[in-house]
Parts: sequence; C-alpha cells; structure tokens
Amino acid sequence: MINPEQFRFFSTMVKESSGIALSKGKEYLLESRLNELARVLGLKDINDLYRKAKFSPTPKLKEQIIEAMTTNETYFFRDQHPFEVLKKEIIPELIEKRKSKRTLRFWSAACSTGQEPYSIAIILEEHFPQIKTWRREIIATDISQQAIDKGRAGRFTQVEVNRGLPIQLLIKYFKQQGAFWMVNDKLKKLIRFKKVNLIGPLIGINNIDVVMCRYVLIYFDQDTKKAILEKIVKVLNPGGYLFLGATETPVGLPSCMKRKTFGRTTCWQKQ
Ligand SMILES: C[S@@+](CC[C@H](N)C(=O)[O-])C[C@H]1O[C@@H](n2cnc3c(N)ncnc32)[C@H](O)[C@@H]1O
Repeated sequence: MINPEQFRFFSTMVKESSGIALSKGKEYLLESRLNELARVLGLKDINDLYRKAKFSPTPKLKEQIIEAMTTNETYFFRDQHPFEVLKKEIIPELIEKRKSKRTLRFWSAACSTGQEPYSIAIILEEHFPQIKTWRREIIATDISQQAIDKGRAGRFTQVEVNRGLPIQLLIKYFKQQGAFWMVNDKLKKLIRFKKVNLIGPLIGINNIDVVMCRYVLIYFDQDTKKAILEKIVKVLNPGGYLFLGATETPVGLPSCMKRKTFGRTTCWQKQ
C-alpha cells in the first residue's frame, strides 16, 4: 500500500513534469500504474521504485514514471460528430479562406498513438482532392515518447482498427502485415509526429488553422488549463478553430475565441 509520503513525492514529480494533477483519491491509480512499472523494471514493488526515484533518480526513470501516469485511451474518429463538422463545415470554409496561401495546418495537441491525426489525414485524402497540391500538414504531438513512436510507425492491431475505423477506409488506407495493419505512405506523409509537453514551450508549432486538444485538459488543474489554452490560442491563425473533448469546458479561454456550435459539437474560432 502506498504511503502518504510516497504519494506526495510521486504526485509532485508528475505535476511538475507534465501538469497532470493527481489529487487525493488517486492513490489507487498511482499505485497500480507504478507497481506495474516497477515490475517492468525488474524491481520488487512501488517501495523499491520510490527509493530508486528518490535517492538515485535518472532522467530516463523520471520519463518512465511520467509515461506510466499518462492515459493514452484513443480511437479513430473519436466521437464521430466533430470529424463530420470538420469535413462538412470547417475544412470547406478554411479552403475558401486560405486559397491564396494554399496552406492548411492542423495540430493534434495530445495525439496519443496517432488515431486522431490519422483520422484528420483520412478526411483530407478522402474528401478534399482539390487541395492535394497545397501545403497540407498535420502536426501530431504528445508528451509520451512511446505513444509518439507508435503513432509514427503507423502500426495498429486488429482491435485498434476495429475501434472507429469503417472497413472500407481500413482497406483503402491500411495494409495488413501479419497480425498488424500498417498505415499507407500517403497518410504518413501528411503527419509530423513530435514529442511536445503542453506545459513547456511550443517549439515549432505556429500558424495553425485547426487545433484538436481533446481529452487532455481533464488531467490538469484550472491554472494549468488556462495557461495551456492561452498558449494554444497564440499559435492559432486568425479564423482558426479549437476543438476540445465533448465533456470539456474551456476555463479561461481568451476573449478572442468565439464559441461556435454545429449541432452537438462546439468549437471555438479565433477572431
Ligand atoms: C486520453 S489521451 C487523448 C488522445 C486524443 N486526443 C483523443 O482524444 O483520442 C490523452 C493524451 O494526453 C497526453 N498528455 C498528458 N499530459 C500531457 C502534456 N503535458 N503534454 C502533452 N500531452 C500530454 C497523454 O500522453 C495522452 O496520450
């Protein structure tokens, strides 16, 4: 059983390094995730991990602890309707607005293992052939190096492709290789995967037309959420859009962001 000092030590480390707030009541989550990490590292249990992290810490171990505390749940076309809105409303509008610049940039801000950016890439390939010669880019970032590596590899299990991906799109954009499905190069070329911590500087991320920052702010406290949203808004182009997860409310969103509702999907447009 994790003791109060261990909980304080690990939750402070996780908060300072990732923004993820583990409040009282999350002892069980922390204990089960870190016991599993201890097992993977060949340690006896969380007590051993605590001693190692406290008295002989390494950057690698810290990274492993943070990774263990991230929740990477995701699937293709998550919630469906926001992707319908992208396809039917937002991308057509942006194509019209950006036709002199011929550039469209998306950012999947906590992309986990890549299902979200690949869903955007499929929409672009499938429905917007008229911008094939434009500069199209999807920046896909996450704090978890493991998640980024998996996304970049574009290698998904049968269970993963069964979640949200219609069969005709699976056959068209993926190739079966043994037990896995590999994303084709057309989609891969549209996406640039990169490790980025949302509580740090957003290096190389700018002039974004659509940012999807979905199901990540829920892990942060109010001040952290506000600070991240302010940074995100700064990298958005005027007229650009922000999508959050369906259950998320944008605390402290700068006033330049105007709320827009399309049926059951809400997003925010920068004025
Ligand atoms: C639940 S997943 C959401 C994935 C995807 N956006 C979706 O909606 O399906 C949350 C992701 O946020 C990432 N994350 C947590 N803290 C982060 C931080 N400080 N910076 C960047 N990503 C972070 C986690 O690693 C995880 O992959």
